[in-house]
Amino acid sequence: VLALYIARWVHVLTAVLGIGQVTAIAALARVVRYSPNEQGAASLLRKLLVLFNWFLLVSLVTGVLMALLVGPSFERTIWFRASALLVLVVGALAGMMRGALKKNAAQRAERLAWGMVGVVAIMVSLMVLKP
Ligand code: HEM
Repeated sequence: VLALYIARWVHVLTAVLGIGQVTAIAALARVVRYSPNEQGAASLLRKLLVLFNWFLLVSLVTGVLMALLVGPSFERTIWFRASALLVLVVGALAGMMRGALKKNAAQRAERLAWGMVGVVAIMVSLMVLKP
């Protein structure tokens, strides 16, 4: 169906162009940690995190849409359920990271960012391997 192709297209675009920036977020968090006086970098990082959360929402909506279009067989798989759960984990980590930046806890912010990279890597593996 056309709708399924479109949902899949938007989903993969979001994954690559939107969620792919998670590595840049972690790299920028490292810059913030090593140069605490760079206020510009910290405020840019906070803006990127807001944008990043929107991309997570789009990935969830298009993921669920694909499942609705394909039927119940999808929803019962481990990888689908795990992904739906893990996307919320990534969103929570991003929220915690914003809080850490607000409190100038740069080391904690960087650790959370690398955690996000790890969970996103697991999610992409789930999507591709579909266990
Ligand atoms: C970090 C967020 C996410 C990323 C980076 C991501 C990435 C991807 C990628 C790269 C694919 C294409 C895989 C392939 O065709 O081999 C895909 C497919 C898919 N994803 Fe996601 N995804 C994310 C979140 C989600 C969520 C939250 C759900 C649902 C709860 C979901 C459900 C699906 C479904 C149903 C497919 C289609 C599988 C198929 O038809 O072959 N994704 N995803």
